[in-house]
Order: sequence, then C-alpha cells, then structure tokens
Amino acid sequence: MIKLQKKYEGTINIYPLFKDDLKINDFQNILDTLIKKDLFKGEKNNIHHTSTYDNNNLVHYIFIGLGSTNDNYMETLRSGISNACKKASSLKETNVGFYLPSQLQNGDALENIATAITLSTYSFNKYQSKKKDTTIEDYILVGSTLDTFKENVDEGELLGKMTILSRELGNEAGDVINPETLAMSAVSLGESSGFKVDIYDKKKIEKLNMNAFLAVSKGSSYEPQLIVMEYMGNQGGEIIGLVGKGITFDSGGLSLKPGNSMLTMQGDMSGAGSVIAAMGAIASMKLEVNVIAVVAACDNSVSAKSYRPNDILTSRSGKTIFVTNTDAEGRLTLIDALDYILTEKMVDRVVDIATLTGAAEVALGQKIAAVITNNDEFMNELKIAAKDTGERVWELPHDEDFMKLIETPYADLNNAGGRFAGTITAGLFLGSVVGDTPWLHIDIAGPSWNEDSDGYFSKGATGYGTRLLYRLVKNTILI
Ligand code: BES
Ligand code: ZN
Ligand code: ZN
Repeated sequence: MIKLQKKYEGTINIYPLFKDDLKINDFQNILDTLIKKDLFKGEKNNIHHTSTYDNNNLVHYIFIGLGSTNDNYMETLRSGISNACKKASSLKETNVGFYLPSQLQNGDALENIATAITLSTYSFNKYQSKKKDTTIEDYILVGSTLDTFKENVDEGELLGKMTILSRELGNEAGDVINPETLAMSAVSLGESSGFKVDIYDKKKIEKLNMNAFLAVSKGSSYEPQLIVMEYMGNQGGEIIGLVGKGITFDSGGLSLKPGNSMLTMQGDMSGAGSVIAAMGAIASMKLEVNVIAVVAACDNSVSAKSYRPNDILTSRSGKTIFVTNTDAEGRLTLIDALDYILTEKMVDRVVDIATLTGAAEVALGQKIAAVITNNDEFMNELKIAAKDTGERVWELPHDEDFMKLIETPYADLNNAGGRFAGTITAGLFLGSVVGDTPWLHIDIAGPSWNEDSDGYFSKGATGYGTRLLYRLVKNTILI
C-alpha cells in the first residue's frame, strides 16, 4: 500500500534528490561522504545504495539522482523511483520510506511517484512456479503536508494498475487472450469501473458490412468480436472516439511471418489493450468527458478458410481493397472500425492506436510512437499529453502524394505498399475514410514492447498508450 505520513521508522530510507539541492534532514553526513567520494552527485539516473549497522539492524539509504531542478525530471523520477523499489525489494524488507524534497511535494510529482511504485512490482511471471514477488508491503511517502495530495496518489496508482492490465493483456498468449476473452475483459472492466460495453458477434458484424474486418478473421477458429465501449460523463459535450487494433495473434495469415517475427505477435492487440485500460481509468476517475471506444478484435490465422493475397474486399465504407499481403491485416480491421465509429457513433474527434507497421519501429526505435494526423491542433494536444506521461511521439508526413504508393489497377486501395514509407502509407490508408474529422493515428509497433526490464518497464508488453490516452482525454477538460 502507498501511504502518506509525516514520519517513517523502518530501515530503507530512499532520497530522490536534485543535484542543485543536495540536502536531507537526518543523515547529511552520509550524503556528504558520498558526494566527497564522487559516488553520488544527484546526476540524472545516478542511483546509489549504502547501508550502516545500527542496534543489530542494517539500515539502508538509497539515493536517487534527478538532475537539475530546471530540467524536465518526471521521466527520471519515474524510472528512479521504480529502480529504487526494485533495489529495496532485493533487500527483503517489508516497507520503505521515501523522503521527498519540497520540489516533489506537488500533485504532479506525487501522481507520477505512485504510478512508478505501482509499476515497479509488475512482471509477467504468473506461469513461473518459483516467482520472485516483491517483499515490500508498504511504500511510505514522507513529508509534512502530503495529506493534501491523497487524490493525486490514488490517481497515479490507478494509472499504474490500468497500465499493468494493458501489459497483462499484451503478454498473455494468443489462445488465452483471444477475441472472446479480450471482449470479456472489456466487459468486466466496464462493470467494475463504470462504462457501458456492447459486444457484437460475427452475425452482427456481417450486418454492419464490416467485410474487411471479417476477411481477416476468416482463417481462425475464433469468431471476430466487435467491442464497443461508451462512457458519457459530460452530457451534450464533444465525443472523443478511440479505436484500438485488436489482433489477438498475428501469424501473418497466408503471407506467413517468419518464426522469429511471430514470437511477440500475441501483443498485436496492444492498441486495444491500452484503449480498454484507458477507458477503465477515465470511468473510474469519473472524468467529465464523453468517450466512445471501438475494438475490432480477431485472430489473423492460417487455414483453408483464410483470406488470400489477390482477394478484393469491399470495406464498410464502400472503398474496395486489393489484398497484396495478408500480413497487412491491422489496417483492414481498423478501416472498418474507424468507419463504424465515425458513421454510427458520430464522434467529433478520433484517435486510433495500433501496432501497425514494423517500419515504424525501424524508423523511430522502441521508445517513440509514429503519428499521422490531419489536424495540427490535435497533434499539439497529443504532444502536451506525451510530455506529461513520457510516452514519446513523433509526427510523420500526411501528404496526399504518398497515396500513389498504395494505388492498384484492381481496386480503390492496395492493402500494402512496397518497401517505401510503410508507416505513412498505412496511416494514409486509414485516413482515407476519416475525411475532415480531427484524427490522430498512433503507430505503436516500437514502444508497445520492451526487450528488458528497466526502470518502470517490465520485459514484454509496456502498456504504452494507457496513460497517454487518459491524459489526452483528461486535458480536454482543462482547456
Ligand atoms: N503487427 C504487424 C506489425 C508489427 C511488427 C508490430 C513488429 C509490432 C512489431 C503488422 O500487422 C504487420 O505485419 N505489418 C507488416 C505490413 C507489411 C506487410 C506492409 C509489416 O510491418 O511488415
Ligand atoms: Zn500483420
Ligand atoms: Zn498485425
């Protein structure tokens, strides 16, 4: 549990410190010795652990460097706090105390500290017989006036928990989180946090003319599920639409992926995971906003019934699509989901988030999402939210001339372009049904997955987008 107290009496003392303010209350002599020996200077990402022996007890001191007070320190704070928690857990104690300098005694910092503490304990280890769960039961934040920030701590903890939910959905195997169980997860989260969920089965999806989505699902033994979530917290206000890619396993279909590239494709529903988890956070916090979210969930599998290269599909929008590559399946599900949310739900603005192209990961690496948009203002709002949460974004061009790369003589659109500008052509493919509605397309092929555990990231699915979407939506109230 995270507690706010005026005092701490345990044996693990943690000090997050700025390099221009290396002062603490009780053990300044220890800190001064470390400074003198050049072991700790408060530099960014510098963590130092030392211990003393006192009355038959080991007493630990963990110093976290945050860099200068003038820098944007939130990301350093999040990862420093998480690393310190992991260190503390390795010391096998049951509680830790964080001594917060005055610069961190504000709502924003406390929210982020709570998120980092919550995320520090997560790893996808439930199938391991000998798991190493944390020994820490209580995380005590120490400061004289912290009680006023209880709500911020609760919000930060909730965002940590929702990010963990999204990670868990992304890490679970494709036969554990399949279209049906993904839909059930949304239903149970809707019940516990207060948003409405409708699930549409294959027959209803057929009635909705979502033929591109249906084509992708054809090869699987799992039926497709259309998951529609609604949270209306602001009668008469604008409606924000969220669409998440929900491919519960992407084998590539008949255009089969090589074995190694398939190894993480249970995470191809990470966009959906983050959308569902963000809905959980938005509804739990009872934000005064209206959000409708849609996930077209299915499994891209191989069988005699699979859709094929050379098929021509008629999407819900009426646009026809020539299939060159069944591994470019995400855009087929999303083009129908976007058309559905725009025409049936009449959202005022829409964001889609998807593990869409390997090209995005090649271009920007594993920490930054690629974004395509038709609206600069909306992009700016996303940048502001991203700065807050540390979920980095980078805009790619949305110029019409890229459309040439997905032209085909056989239909209105080709589902895959050639070698060039793969992230942009995928974005433009989706944009072709969006029109003038302000739209953000977030390609998270890179940041949805982390190779190793570091800071507040665990190995595997990252839950990227959960906090970002929450913040983007929440900031619309403050504007
Ligand atoms: N799900 C993949 C994209 C992906 C790749 C996500 C790596 C996460 C990590 C997507 O469905 C896909 O296979 N895209 C193809 C598109 C191509 C065939 C035009 C790709 O990126 O190779
Ligand atoms: Zn694919
Ligand atoms: Zn995919």
